[in-house]
Amino acid sequence: MHDVALYILKQLSVDRFYSGSQLARELDLSRTAIWKHIQMLAVYGVDIYSLPGKGYRLAEPVELLDQKIIFKGLQGSHLISGVEVLSSIDSTNRYLWQQAHEGNKPSGSVVFSEFQSAGRGRRGRQWVSPFAKNIYCSLLWRYENMPHGIGGLSLAIGVAVVDVLEKMGVSGIGLKWPNDLLCGGRKVAGILLEMSGDPCGSGCVVIGVGINVDMKGFSGSSAITQPWTDLVELKRRSDISRNELSILLLKSINQALLNYARSGLSQLIPRWNELDVMFGKEVVIQGVNNALSGVARGIDESGALLLLSNGEIRRIHSGEVSLRLAENSGDLCC
Ligand code: BTN
Repeated sequence: MHDVALYILKQLSVDRFYSGSQLARELDLSRTAIWKHIQMLAVYGVDIYSLPGKGYRLAEPVELLDQKIIFKGLQGSHLISGVEVLSSIDSTNRYLWQQAHEGNKPSGSVVFSEFQSAGRGRRGRQWVSPFAKNIYCSLLWRYENMPHGIGGLSLAIGVAVVDVLEKMGVSGIGLKWPNDLLCGGRKVAGILLEMSGDPCGSGCVVIGVGINVDMKGFSGSSAITQPWTDLVELKRRSDISRNELSILLLKSINQALLNYARSGLSQLIPRWNELDVMFGKEVVIQGVNNALSGVARGIDESGALLLLSNGEIRRIHSGEVSLRLAENSGDLCC
C-alpha cells in the first residue's frame, strides 16, 4: 500500500470524521489527490464513507497491527527472532520463502501483512485477504535432525491454532484433516506449510496461518469458494484485538515447535483425534485421478489419515488429495 494511503488510514483509524482539507494540509496534497487515495483504499477492501462538510470516516474502526506491541508480547518465546509487519504484499509465505532462500532471514522470523494481493491457499487456491480485517502470518523455522519426520508438523500447528482460538473464548472449533479449522462446517482459519530440505534431517519450513477475524462489510467475500465464518461471528462480539491474537498465535506456535522438535506428533494424537470433525464418518478421499471411500479413523504419528476401507486401514498422506464427507453422511458440525 502507498505510504500516503496508509497515513490516511492511520489518521482515520481514530474513529472520528477527518476532513479532506485537513488531510490535504498535513500531506501537502490537493483535496482531489486525497479523494483518489481514499478511492484506492476501497480497492484494498477498506470501507470509508464521506459526509459533505464533515469529511471522511471509516465504516468500521480499525486496529492496525503494531510490530512493537507484538514483539514485546513475545518475551520468553525463544524460537521467535523477529517480527515484521507489512501493509501490503502478494503473499507472506512467498515473501518469507524468498527472503529465507536469499539468506536474509534467520530461523524464527515472522512476517504479518495487513493485505495480501495473492494470498496462497492449499491446493492452488487463493486466500482472500482484505486489508486489516484478518490475520495473515508466516513464520520461518529452520529445523535440524528430525528423526520422526517433518510431515506431521502442519497437524501440530492446526492444534496450536485451535488452542489459541479457545483461549480467545471461541469454542466448538474442530479440525478437518490435514489442517482446516472449522466451526459448524465453515472454515475459520487455514494453514499452509511450504518446505525444503530433508524431511527427517535438516531443512526449512515456512508456516503460513490465515485466521478470519472480521469480514463484516467486506464486499469481496463472494470470491471465497468454500463456506466460511469469522471470529466476530463466532464470538458474537466485535472487540477482538488482532494484536493480542497475533501474540497468542505466535506463543502457541513457539510452544508447538518446541514440542514437535522433541516428540513429533506422538503426544498430540489423542487431542487431534478429539478435535477431528471427520472421526468415525464415511468419507471420500479425492485424488487427482481417483477416489477412495471409507471411514475416517483419525491420524497416525506421521500425520497420515487412517482410512478404514474394505476391512483394512489405509494410510493417506496429504499432498494433493482432498477429504470430504460421503454423500450420505449428513453435515459437519463440531
Ligand atoms: C488453506 O488453504 O487452508 C491455507 C490458507 C493459508 C493462508 C495463509 S495467510 C498467510 C500465509 N500467506 C499465504 O499466502 N498463505 C498463508
